[in-house]
Amino acid sequence: MFYMITFSPAGGTKRCANYLASAWTERKKQIDLINRVDHFDEYEFTADDICLVAVPVFSGRVPSVAAERIKMLRGNGAKAIAVAVYGNQLYGDTLLELSEILRNDGFRVMAAAATIAQHSVAGEFAPGRPDADDIRQLKEWSVQIKQKLESHEEAEAFPPSRPYREVHDTPVTPRTDRSLCAYCGVCVSRCPTDAILRENPDQTDVDKCIFCMGCVSICPREARTVEPEILAKAKLALQDECAERKENELFL
Ligand SMILES: Cc1cc2nc3c(=O)[nH]c(=O)nc-3n(C[C@H](O)[C@H](O)[C@H](O)COP(=O)(O)O)c2cc1C
Ligand code: SF4
Ligand code: SF4
Repeated sequence: MFYMITFSPAGGTKRCANYLASAWTERKKQIDLINRVDHFDEYEFTADDICLVAVPVFSGRVPSVAAERIKMLRGNGAKAIAVAVYGNQLYGDTLLELSEILRNDGFRVMAAAATIAQHSVAGEFAPGRPDADDIRQLKEWSVQIKQKLESHEEAEAFPPSRPYREVHDTPVTPRTDRSLCAYCGVCVSRCPTDAILRENPDQTDVDKCIFCMGCVSICPREARTVEPEILAKAKLALQDECAERKENELFL
């Protein structure tokens, strides 16, 4: 069985993952790491399974919630493809960290990729990516990865960096514009950490929020937004590192 295991609050990671899995035409089982009510400790794979595990890059690391959930999986020798999707700034330690977690879970990491998607906080960085060139490349890589998996050799090492980059909590949370909110609860269901109150979606628990941008991207009424001053500061901080186009990378 081919498993797509993804954590994709704003959808970019999922898009890249789908292109990288396109060479496998059979039906794929989806495991959504955002789903806070799933029992991740009950997933047991076998050596015949292939798992594509894709996460976004948060501050150069695997988002901590995704890391916790991936650690619950039991690989039992299944082949894994590790994917880190980033917003054209840097992917830092994410691939190394993801691969280590997967190996500790008992997966064989056969291939890895760092790919680029539109920045989920500041959409002017990597706008529209993955674009047509990315899509062509990711589909070609999917064929190469499939061939690599048939060889049974594990992936080459990734650029190492130890200790891992420090995790900085982002003391920011999106807010709700009450005049636009329809109180539909869509954002509540999509929040990976249960930070938005079900009975009152205009309230968010700042301590639980990981600033993943999931609620902002899914709200059908654009009622969830980041404060303009905070956004302006973030854009300024990212400007130098994000401006120049970066390219996807494949490790076989
Ligand atoms: C909290 C947070 C931290 C981020 N940190 C980085 C980063 O370190 N480097 C980078 O290039 N992009 C960073 N991004 C951008 C995301 O990695 C990128 O937009 C990714 O495609 C988001 O995946 P998604 O669309 O599946 O949610 C960050 C985004 C968020 C929300
Ligand atoms: S998804 Fe948007 S409209 Fe619906 S409850 Fe959340 S903020 Fe309100
Ligand atoms: S409230 Fe925070 S953690 Fe929940 S979806 Fe929104 S940004 Fe993500």
